[in-house]
Amino acid sequence: MTRDSLNSLYEKKTHNSKKAYDNSVNIFPGGISHNIRFFKPYPFFVNKAKDKHLFDVDGNKFVDYWMGHWALVLGHSPTIVVKKLARQIRQGTLYGTANDISVNLGETIKKSIPTSELLRFCTTGSEATMYAIRIARAVTKKRIICKTIGGWHGFNTDLMQSVNYPFEIDEGVGMTGREGDFVESIPYNDLDRSIKLLDSVKDDLACVILEPILGGGGCIPADINYLRGLEEYCKRNDILFVLDEIVTGFRFNFGSYSSFYHLDPDMITLGKIVGGGLPIGVLCGKKEIMKVANPVENTNKEQICYIGGGTFSSNPLTMTAGYATLDYLSQNRKSIYNKINRLGDMARNGLRKLFSDYGLRTQVTGIGSLFLTHFLTDKVNEITNASDVALSDIQGLTRYHFALMAKHGIFFLPRKMGAISTVHDVKDIKNLLNATEKIIKSDIFLKIKT
Ligand SMILES: Cc1ncc(COP(=O)(O)O)c(C=O)c1O
Repeated sequence: MTRDSLNSLYEKKTHNSKKAYDNSVNIFPGGISHNIRFFKPYPFFVNKAKDKHLFDVDGNKFVDYWMGHWALVLGHSPTIVVKKLARQIRQGTLYGTANDISVNLGETIKKSIPTSELLRFCTTGSEATMYAIRIARAVTKKRIICKTIGGWHGFNTDLMQSVNYPFEIDEGVGMTGREGDFVESIPYNDLDRSIKLLDSVKDDLACVILEPILGGGGCIPADINYLRGLEEYCKRNDILFVLDEIVTGFRFNFGSYSSFYHLDPDMITLGKIVGGGLPIGVLCGKKEIMKVANPVENTNKEQICYIGGGTFSSNPLTMTAGYATLDYLSQNRKSIYNKINRLGDMARNGLRKLFSDYGLRTQVTGIGSLFLTHFLTDKVNEITNASDVALSDIQGLTRYHFALMAKHGIFFLPRKMGAISTVHDVKDIKNLLNATEKIIKSDIFLKIKT
């Protein structure tokens, strides 16, 4: 099956989506409300989602591995969350005041993540990382933030640096051009080179912030010695060590990735899973650090670091959905994490074997319930960071994901990693492997065969 015939198959199945897209380009820049949601020739439009399925406006059904930007660990609209939300909607959707449900969710997070001695809810992950670096600057009285090359922390202006290939220039126009003066970017998974760069700015370095698994940058787990080395360097030099766990929090175990590996970050950001399918960001930190944001004790502007939270922070719907989700995960933690981590192993091992049996050079990255296939090229033999991903055959990956979607009703947002949730089962992974084998046998991979 060629690219052209896949496109025409997709177009045949998605007439109503095409109409919706033609309308939406007159309403939203590019026809979408998040850049990565666009793919060629146009995205399908969804009007219902339940458990593992997305349903589009043409009546197509897709088994979903994108799972709401990897947020939906219990699948779409899980009954235990929906029931609680239905009751909460009648009680009120936005109080705009302190409320007791936020204490339930906050307490659950606090008990399960050692770093979260104090925390603040906000509405997006981008906001949480923005607050994290503001607090880091406030507490250390230093200005420079260090991030990793290819690291993604949301659309906040300070961290829009070195996200996409070629990594050296600002991410798009619309910034002063000076933001980069206060951001140092270090190579992911390369401790020696990272420390050299940190040394060059350490007198003005407020914090190092990174994802323990590069998510948007290509589903690449950090080497544990890299994380430990950075943490140790930060502690030795009075620099705050911040882990962005917006993807990894509650994804592999009940708690943070960092506590699982006995890391001791000063702050952690959370989002996605802890919102139970509703918008959230969370900044968690050690008491000594977070107290700078206490508006009751810090009564003048020389003392306080304003980190807001926003109109919708701690809204009772998100708090209810998040608490219902974490409560369920907590009660079933053993079976849930065993199941999704095992399915992840099955997907990674199955894909590795399949591509290798057919002589296609790939590397399937990921850990636990997250996975992504990279197509290697003569420019890259191993994927250890985002620069390697940039040199892999991203078009091949896009074609593979598009073929899964158009021909087999299996949805990965093209080029992005897949997330397994509790509603997936062994049969789904077998179907994914069977579909992959059929795609390999078609001619869309001809270009990348060895
Ligand atoms: C690691 C990481 N940090 C921050 C964000 C931003 O979160 P949000 O999209 O909720 O603003 C994301 C989003 O994908 C993320 O993956």
